[in-house]
Amino acid sequence: MTSTTDELDEVAEQQRFDALIADEQRIEPRDWMPEAYRRTLIRQISQHAHSEIIGMQPEANWITRAPSLKRKSILIAKVQDEAGHGLYLYSAAQTLGITREEMTDALIEGRARYSSIFNYHTPTWADMGAIGWLVDGAAICNQVPLCRASYGPYGRAMVRICKEESFHQRQGFEILYELSHGTPEQKRMAQDAVDRWYWPSLMMFGPSDDASPNSAQSMAWKIKRFSNDELRQRFVGMCVPQFEALGLECPDRDLRYDEETGRWIMGEIDWNEFSEVLAGRGPANAERLRHRREAHDDGAWVREAAAAYAQKMQDRRRFAA
Ligand code: 3HC
Repeated sequence: MTSTTDELDEVAEQQRFDALIADEQRIEPRDWMPEAYRRTLIRQISQHAHSEIIGMQPEANWITRAPSLKRKSILIAKVQDEAGHGLYLYSAAQTLGITREEMTDALIEGRARYSSIFNYHTPTWADMGAIGWLVDGAAICNQVPLCRASYGPYGRAMVRICKEESFHQRQGFEILYELSHGTPEQKRMAQDAVDRWYWPSLMMFGPSDDASPNSAQSMAWKIKRFSNDELRQRFVGMCVPQFEALGLECPDRDLRYDEETGRWIMGEIDWNEFSEVLAGRGPANAERLRHRREAHDDGAWVREAAAAYAQKMQDRRRFAA
């Protein structure tokens, strides 16, 4: 009897959930949700949070070497923004019943994914421009639709993140613009950075639609609003006039616009490179994780001090009551 009642309750809950999704309403932490929806959100949001945190490393590498005080303070602010994005996203994931410690352990033990793009090195100052322009540009393309994600805490976190990403994208463009309009050597440095970052930035959108196991369900749940290939198309279309403004060459020599289909025909993405990076064998995977582990160990005293202080405050309140 009880199990039949439970089943009926679950059917009613599922119908209510489906109606909210169909009606473009938001699912909130207190609402019933299918277990698979919860798991998918934890997967995507935690991967996204890890990407923001690991993503601090390639740029932090240039803080001490930025070419002027102004560039240095802009870069510090940008890296701090990424830390903030990670924190909003970890908080959004925590509303789904996973703890920050569980997510952190998964990252530092190498069990969690983070974006492939942060496993490449940044040998020159122009890389700061290419990351801002291409990587943050791709992030904006991918993340603006996530502001409408059906899960409330995720969508709301994304609104603020996207505002900051758009500042990041412009500062990257500006670095590259100055270099590409500078001396021939500076222009070469800008072109070299763009040559190295262009293809990995296309990989940020994930595998092509026919090789993406999660897209269809995530789109049905209105977590994702567009497929990986649709967003990649949009990004390429955005880059083309900007390449012209920069006076730089697009590394994809086969790129052309097909008037008939209204789509960009691109050269072949190196999916083998993509899977190597996802498997942990990219140029900087080991270094990124090692650095993250060390930072976690170095920060142990801060976590202990914060926990001791919280305990002290709790005891004080208890004795005062
Ligand atoms: N890097 C690493 N893993 C990737 C990836 C990439 N570029 N693209 C796809 N994957 C992984 C997926 O996470 C998934 O792994 P899992 O099933 O083991 O969890 C697998 O490859 C299959 O891909 P799917 O397309 O089926 O997966 P999704 O539907 O989750 O789509 C996604 C992938 C487009 C990255 C999507 O998760 C997403 O939009 N995430 C939110 C945005 C995000 O995380 N961006 C990361 C960059 S953050 C950033 O750019 C910071 C900024 O400051 C620059």
